[in-house]
Amino acid sequence: MKQTLVKILQSQGFGSRKECTWMIKKSGVKIDGKECRDPKQLFETDDLTFEVTSQKWTFRPNVYLVLNKPKGYECSHTPDHHESVFELLPVQFINRKIQIAGRLDVDTEGLLLLSDDGQFIHHVTSPKKGVRKTYLADLKHPFSDEQKAMLVSGVELHQEHEKLSATEVEAVSERQVRLTIDRGCYHQVRRMFGAVSNRVEGLKREKVGELSIGDDLPPGEWRYLEAVDLERLKWVP
Ligand code: URA
Repeated sequence: MKQTLVKILQSQGFGSRKECTWMIKKSGVKIDGKECRDPKQLFETDDLTFEVTSQKWTFRPNVYLVLNKPKGYECSHTPDHHESVFELLPVQFINRKIQIAGRLDVDTEGLLLLSDDGQFIHHVTSPKKGVRKTYLADLKHPFSDEQKAMLVSGVELHQEHEKLSATEVEAVSERQVRLTIDRGCYHQVRRMFGAVSNRVEGLKREKVGELSIGDDLPPGEWRYLEAVDLERLKWVP
């Protein structure tokens, strides 16, 4: 689809129509190596790449991201006592009203998905879709077979209407457990271990669907989700 340059920049989060018009006229935008200072010039948006103040961008109808959330960051635009995960992202994404698909507690680290596509967020977080989330939990007390059996058969948690169970539980060591759930209730993993008389002392989300955080993305860093990643989340844009 063809769009004016000003609309393109606006849709990609570079600011209001007025701000984008000013930016194009003052600094220019490079497209295919050529500078354009006309906000009304039309460009095909499919596969469009452009440069604003020497930074390269690709036109994206929607953005899908993975952030390796560090401990000590809140999943909120208005954090109470800590920094916000949104401070780790370029302002263009905030302007695009990017949202978190399944929040993590302030002390939890690992795989955090974000997007400005509401249907994608619903797909990842809705209990009906059953997208699995895998966590690695460091525990205060040794983990027993009895605790494992209770987590698999389901535990009652305050204010939840039904028992919540783990779809997979793997004891990695005496005090470290990998646990997979297909819901995302409030503090679910910490509360589930609490319900079997243990206590989570460290928590990392390693995987959502078949998408793993891997070793290539250091804490605090983000990257775009590419087609292969979206496939692992069973999401077709
Ligand atoms: N369960 C928790 O208890 N905390 C998280 O951050 C995610 C799942």
